[in-house]
Amino acid sequence: MVTHMGNGGRVSSGSNSHRTAAAALGAAGPPARELTIELRDVARQYRVGGQTVRALDHISLDLTGGRFVSVVGPSGAGKSTLLHLLGALDCPDSGSIIFDGEEIGRLRDEQQSQFRHRCVGFVFQFFNLLPTLSAWENVAVPKLLDGVRLGKARAEAVQLMDRVGLGNRAEHRPSELSGGQMQRVAVARALMMDPPLVLADEPTGNLDSATGASILALLAEVAHEPGRGRLVVMVTHNSDAAATTDRVITLQDGRVCHDAAMVPW
Ligand SMILES: Nc1ncnc2c1ncn2[C@@H]1O[C@H](COP(=O)(O)OP(=O)(O)O)[C@@H](O)[C@H]1O
Ligand SMILES: [Mg+2]
Repeated sequence: MVTHMGNGGRVSSGSNSHRTAAAALGAAGPPARELTIELRDVARQYRVGGQTVRALDHISLDLTGGRFVSVVGPSGAGKSTLLHLLGALDCPDSGSIIFDGEEIGRLRDEQQSQFRHRCVGFVFQFFNLLPTLSAWENVAVPKLLDGVRLGKARAEAVQLMDRVGLGNRAEHRPSELSGGQMQRVAVARALMMDPPLVLADEPTGNLDSATGASILALLAEVAHEPGRGRLVVMVTHNSDAAATTDRVITLQDGRVCHDAAMVPW
């Protein structure tokens, strides 16, 4: 079972050693080492109607924490496939994905879900909030998997609501929030387990440009939080959105055709 990813105690199944969301809020803790992810010769293909589709065609990439990275490219280029592999929602057919020194490309189902729970926060285009729960309860939901009752996680969830600028909306249901506010709740939920990696698939795809810009600013803040070394990887169709990030990786036909960094990686 993947309980420790060799990243300075950032990830562990032990409740005592697990960093709290409160610690994620400030720069008070000791500086954490930056996350590193190495993809080596990663291939993923699908067989459809006797034909083979190379969704990812032997790509190699090095990703470093403390960065806000975007992945762009035409429809069918392999962007979502890459995000799914990074989040252990899927396995490569060949090649390796080393997450802080540990291979995550060949985890068994149970290990994959443990890894996702501890190490990855997901943000989706359509928010995926539970309509019958209040905003803070939605944020606290990941804690249920640890057997924690929602009420016990309330303080941390409310603090995260505050962190994303929605301290006064904690009791609202999703239907009582705007699209931008719902996406802020989704970002807070993604941070509930204080993961070193946040993956966002078209997080601004359903928002107007001003609201989208504020979500991009929030994701940049999440990546650049001092002392945390968190990596945010965002898939987007929007080149203006990509241009705000630290590094733009362009995929085409399952390959990296361009890779431009605004800051060193
Ligand atoms: N589950 C699947 N079964 C068959 N083909 C798939 C599947 N998922 C993706 N593909 C194919 O793999 C390629 C890459 O898909 P995807 O990663 O979703 O691209 P993008 O997110 O860039 O639009 C596409 O040609 C797509 O049709
Ligand atoms: Mg896609």
